Amino acid sequence: MEKLVINGGNALRGRVKISGAKNAVLPIIAATLLGQDTPSRLDEVPALDDVHTIAEVIGSLGVDARFDPEAHQFFVDSAGIKYCEAPYDLVRKMRASFLIMGPLLARCGKARISLPGGCAIGTRPIDLHLKGFEALGAEIEIGHGFIDANAPHGLKGARIYLDFPSVGATENILMAASMAEGQTVLENPAQEPEIIDLANYLNVMGAKIRGAGTNVLKIEGVPKLKGAAYTVIPDRIEAGTYMVAAAMTRGDVYIENAISEHLKPVIAKLKEAGVIIDEDVDGIRVRCDKATKAVDIKTMPYPGFPTDMQAQFMAMLAVSEGTGLVTETVFENRFMHVDELKRMGASIKIDGRTSVVEGVSKLTGCQVKATDLRAGAAMVLAGLVAEGETQIGYIHHIDRGYDHLVPKLVQLGADIRRVEE
Ligand code: UD1
Repeated sequence: MEKLVINGGNALRGRVKISGAKNAVLPIIAATLLGQDTPSRLDEVPALDDVHTIAEVIGSLGVDARFDPEAHQFFVDSAGIKYCEAPYDLVRKMRASFLIMGPLLARCGKARISLPGGCAIGTRPIDLHLKGFEALGAEIEIGHGFIDANAPHGLKGARIYLDFPSVGATENILMAASMAEGQTVLENPAQEPEIIDLANYLNVMGAKIRGAGTNVLKIEGVPKLKGAAYTVIPDRIEAGTYMVAAAMTRGDVYIENAISEHLKPVIAKLKEAGVIIDEDVDGIRVRCDKATKAVDIKTMPYPGFPTDMQAQFMAMLAVSEGTGLVTETVFENRFMHVDELKRMGASIKIDGRTSVVEGVSKLTGCQVKATDLRAGAAMVLAGLVAEGETQIGYIHHIDRGYDHLVPKLVQLGADIRRVEE
C-alpha cells in the first residue's frame, strides 16, 4: 500500500493542464456498448483507476476494449456483446458500473447487474434508474443480490419525470431511450456538463437527442447506433481542486483547459473569498496573496455548487478568516473528511446536514486518511498548507479520480511524494 507524504508551506506557481473528465468518460465508455458496425475511439481519456475498472467491466461482456493511458485513448469494438451480466466484484469496486444497464437493455433486450450496495458517502439508491427503465417497458426483478431487467420485444419511448435530477439515472435513461421505439421525454433531468457531453457523443453515434443541459430532454429513438470518435471534455472538478490549491497556498496558477462556464459557482465563491480570478478561452488564472475570507456554501444539482467540490472548500474554510457554513443537500453522509481535518487542527462542528467551520490560523501535519475520493483531495489541500509533514493513507480513493496528481503538484512547486507504507 502506498501513501502520500506532503511537507506543507509551498505556494503553488506555474501552469497545470487539466485532464479529461472522469464523470464524462465513464458514461461515454458505457455508451460505446450501443455502437454497432464501427468501433469507437475516445480521446483525452484520463489515466484513472476508474477508467481501468470500467474497461474491465465492458471487457467482461466479451467486448473488445483497450485503454492506452499514455496516449489518453480508449478503443472499443462492441460489435459482438457476448454476455449481459456485471458481477458483484466489479460493481462493488465502482458504482458507475451500473451505467452499463441502460445500454445493455437497449442493445440486447436484457441486463443482469449486481446490486451496487452502499458506499462511503451514503446509501445511494438506484430507484430512479429502475423507474425509468420500467417506464420504457422493461420488466425489473430483484433477487439474490442481482437486478434483472428484461425487454425481449425492445424498449418503447415514454414520458418520464425524475423526482430528483440524478446524474446517473439521467445518463442510464438517456442511453436506453436512444434506441427505444418512438419518442422519450425526460423531465427534470440532471443538467451537468457531463450530461451534455454524453448526449453529444450519442448524437455523433447517430442518436437524436435534444435539450441536453436544459430541464427537458427529448429523445427520438433510432433502431441502430454506430461507434464513433469523440474527445471528452476537461474535468471541472479536477480544475476546481487546483483552483482551491492555488488560493489556499497563496499562489499563482494558470489552469489550462479549465472551462469557466462549467465552474461558475466555484469561481463565484472563490471571488467572494477574496481570490483573484482571470478567465480566458484557454483556461483560468487563480491568484491569492493573503488569507482567504470565510464563505458559506450549499451543494445543489448543477448549475448549483457541486457536491464534488464540497470537501475541498471545507479544507479552504478550515484556514480562512472567519466562520463559514457548509450545507450538503445532495448526499446524506458526505462529511467523513471532517474528523480527518480536525486531526490536523481544524475547528469544525457538524449539525445535521450543515458543518460550521471556524477558520484557524494554521493546520498541523499528521497522519490522516482519504475516506473517499474528494475527501482525499481535501486532505491533500490541507497538507499543502499544514505546518510540517502530513501523511495520507488509503490513497486508492484518490487514484480513482485524479490523473497524475503528484507530478502535477510537484510541477507547481509542492513538496509531495508517494511512498510505500
Ligand atoms: C454522480 C457523480 C458523482 C457526483 C454525483 C452528484 C459520476 C460517475 N458520479 O454520481 O461524482 O457526486 O453525480 O453530482 O458521474 N439518488 C436516488 N435515487 C437514484 C439515484 C440517485 O435517490 O436512483 C440520490 C442519491 O442517493 C444521491 C443523489 O440522488 O443522494 C444524487 O445522486 P446522483 O446524481 O445519481 O449521483 P451519481 O450519478 O451516483
